[in-house]
Amino acid sequence: MVDAAEGTQAPEGVSKPKARKFKLLPWQAWAHEAWARVRGVVITGGIYTGKTAWAAAEVYDLLTRTMRGATVWWVAPENANIDAMWELFEPWAIRAGAKPRTHPHYYARFPLHGGGRLLGVTADNLNMILSKHPRVIVIDEAGRLTPKAWALLHARFVGVKKLIVMGSATLAPDFQKVQKTAKTLPKRWAFRHVTTLEADIVEADELARLKKELPSSVWDSDILGKPGAGGGNVFKNTRRLATLPWHTPPRKITPGTYEVTWDPAKSSDWSFLGVWRGNRLVWADRWQYEAYTEQTKRVARVCREWGGATCIMDATGPGGVAYDYLSAEGMREQDEDGKEVPRFEVVPVIWTAESKPAMVLALERVVEDGNLALVDPEHGYPYDVVVEEMDAFTRVRSASGLRYSYGAPSGQFDDGVSMVMLRFSGSLAPGIALLGHEEAEE
Ligand SMILES: Nc1ncnc2c1ncn2[C@@H]1O[C@H](COP(=O)(O)OP(=O)(O)OP(=O)(O)O)[C@@H](O)[C@H]1O
Ligand SMILES: [Mg+2]
Repeated sequence: MVDAAEGTQAPEGVSKPKARKFKLLPWQAWAHEAWARVRGVVITGGIYTGKTAWAAAEVYDLLTRTMRGATVWWVAPENANIDAMWELFEPWAIRAGAKPRTHPHYYARFPLHGGGRLLGVTADNLNMILSKHPRVIVIDEAGRLTPKAWALLHARFVGVKKLIVMGSATLAPDFQKVQKTAKTLPKRWAFRHVTTLEADIVEADELARLKKELPSSVWDSDILGKPGAGGGNVFKNTRRLATLPWHTPPRKITPGTYEVTWDPAKSSDWSFLGVWRGNRLVWADRWQYEAYTEQTKRVARVCREWGGATCIMDATGPGGVAYDYLSAEGMREQDEDGKEVPRFEVVPVIWTAESKPAMVLALERVVEDGNLALVDPEHGYPYDVVVEEMDAFTRVRSASGLRYSYGAPSGQFDDGVSMVMLRFSGSLAPGIALLGHEEAEE
């Protein structure tokens, strides 16, 4: 290495920093040598390739050995990116006698080594450190920095002695420009692309899980580090599939023609109900502030109106209560006035950590293949909500890990997406727990 502590003289009164070694991965060893030789190193590639860890180790090495007293900027788009660096760096820094502060931006000083310091900031907070002139700049997740942040950084590049620019996405045009420079000026720059597979940090079974969970476009961008699609919005252009009119129950219905899907919610949240004929949504309803007892009566009414339609519902967690109520409704043969009513089935769907991603992937394919038809949002509420929520639904990778989560952007809802997803839960996603009545009641 970059042995995170090697070469650091133990100052008086400070215990000798414990060597915190990690053996450099082959690409990191390459980058380490390059970094000693050139002014700037650019690394692109997949997630979990050891980029952040490598750069943190280099910065440590530099502040304790080769460039004591330097001011280093560590810039990244989000706090979580700074946290990922800080988690590695702080213990090293403390052992080396630095006095880290974590507010208002991350901050480590090396008073014992000529006052060097590491200033970690998100791109939004760059202005907070503008007066602290850097000798070294590290940019992490460079593909997601805003043009404004790039403009501020570019202005500093000139006076800087050393630069590291890393990123897994190549969306930002400024990041692409830096890559181009690095590739064309090999005397001053070093460039390396490293895939998650090549880096070899992630275990094989974890990779197998991701391969199964992720659509190929996300695999290509996140694991192979190919520029282009991936991440972000899950369902591409749902609007094109929303051209249907809606209709009310026909007078005569052959039983089994329609199916109902219901995403129940406790009273303060939104409940979404859809009526389907095959893959076509024909009618929908959405409400809020209703007790489960009221909600289940409402859903039961809809199931009966549509010819005793089977209701596929989310029975995960508190949904289990709603499932019990609705099942009881479905078994009744008479309404309150003693009039005969159609019975209906209720099918509970249980979402799990494994089944939800599988389900999202399945629905993603359905949308891609155009095997879904929704009501035209021109028909207004709640059909416009379905399309809006589908279009906004996103995939987000956990800040520092290999988990992906799915949902509406914060502050928005995804009850309409769940309602649609339920329609496809049985047929398309193997591994979805689709229990029958008896099993569910166990
Ligand atoms: N040489 C190494 N030896 C052992 N573990 C390492 C090494 N390099 C990195 N790691 C570990 O691998 C994990 C991923 O590393 P790191 O976060 O640096 O990767 P990254 O490419 O920045 O990933 P992300 O896509 O999350 O930004 C971390 O837990 C890190 O501590
Ligand atoms: Mg990283």
